[in-house]
Amino acid sequence: MAFLSALLLLLLSCCTGSQADLAYDVRPAVFVFGDSHVDSGNNNYLITSQSKANFPPNGIDFKASGGMPTGRFTNGRTIADILGEELGQPNYATPFLDPDTAGAALLNGVNYASGAGGILNKTGALYVSRLGMDLQIDYFNTSRQQLDDFVGKIEARERVNRAIFSITIGSNDFLNNYLTFISDFEPPDTFINRLMIALKAQLTRLYYLDARKVVMGSIVPIGCIPYQTSLAPVDETGCVSLPNQLAMKYNRRLRDLLSELNQLLPGANFLYANLYDLYMEIIENHQSYGFVTATDACCGDGGIHGGIVICGPATTLCGSRSEYVYWDPYHPTEAANLIVAKKLVHGDARYISPINVQQLVNI
Ligand SMILES: *[C@@H]1O[C@H](CO)[C@@H](O)[C@H](O)[C@H]1NC(C)=O
Ligand SMILES: *[C@@H]1O[C@H](CO)[C@@H](O)[C@H](O)[C@H]1NC(C)=O
Repeated sequence: MAFLSALLLLLLSCCTGSQADLAYDVRPAVFVFGDSHVDSGNNNYLITSQSKANFPPNGIDFKASGGMPTGRFTNGRTIADILGEELGQPNYATPFLDPDTAGAALLNGVNYASGAGGILNKTGALYVSRLGMDLQIDYFNTSRQQLDDFVGKIEARERVNRAIFSITIGSNDFLNNYLTFISDFEPPDTFINRLMIALKAQLTRLYYLDARKVVMGSIVPIGCIPYQTSLAPVDETGCVSLPNQLAMKYNRRLRDLLSELNQLLPGANFLYANLYDLYMEIIENHQSYGFVTATDACCGDGGIHGGIVICGPATTLCGSRSEYVYWDPYHPTEAANLIVAKKLVHGDARYISPINVQQLVNI
């Protein structure tokens, strides 16, 4: 009897142990950086921010909140939320500024993203307060030290080495800086050079804070958002040319920068997530993906595409959210995000390179 229970204990400890190890293996933490495409509520805590989404009908399809607004700038999940789910994370990375983001919650990862934020500090100044990329990395450094205290330096480093870093930033450097009156009115190449210098320093800083697996998003087709197509003439693609051309120019430089960093920094894996082509593919073939429109905002008013007045309790709301590519004047719906995020995890080199996110996890 004693032998049997000893055996049972042995079996139990063997299997509980190995299950815990397995869970640890298949569930990397997800640290999220970026702008309103992936903000999960940081701006709720910025009192003076003019860039917020913590009111209905934002979040109307977000199951985890029962349809209540969370600060996400979409009807449901962001691409970062879906990425986390696909990687087996039981909880969405919580906002850094949420006081509950402490202790064991850090092990799932943390979200630092902020609506109106950009690569450059000045970007988004019209919206008063927001977290730019430099500040988001300062905050990650704070979490990094909290992790050291919580699990010890060795395990903290190992967890951060295995974690997936998801970065979706750069659109606001054009939409809320270069293309507005706060711009320094320099030639596009000069501006993009400045972005690359800042971004190289930022990504290198993350590397020195032990990030090794980074999924870096390209800029999305910012000329196709209802805000643009409601204001300016469109070209044969149905989108406004200049913003898309700037995005493509930036994206080519971004791809080169990531290759350079992969060469330069031993053990670094910077993936290029081709968000531009992914969303463009959906926009151009929206009917075959089951969307009725790729130009009208589901929630918003003004102009021919409802792209002038931001989504809120008093604006028009469409009936069938999953038939719209765009939720509001600036952001895609959960339905579009779902297609994009799944291709980042499982897709081929047209959309995510040099490897996909699932392969990145398995390294
Ligand atoms: C941006 O702001 C951060 C602090 O928030 C500061 O450390 C950094 O030097 C600033 N960068 C520039 C280019 O001004
Ligand atoms: C992180 O913070 C510590 C303490 O403030 C500082 O010494 C260090 O330089 C920071 N590291 C980076 C990469 O920002």
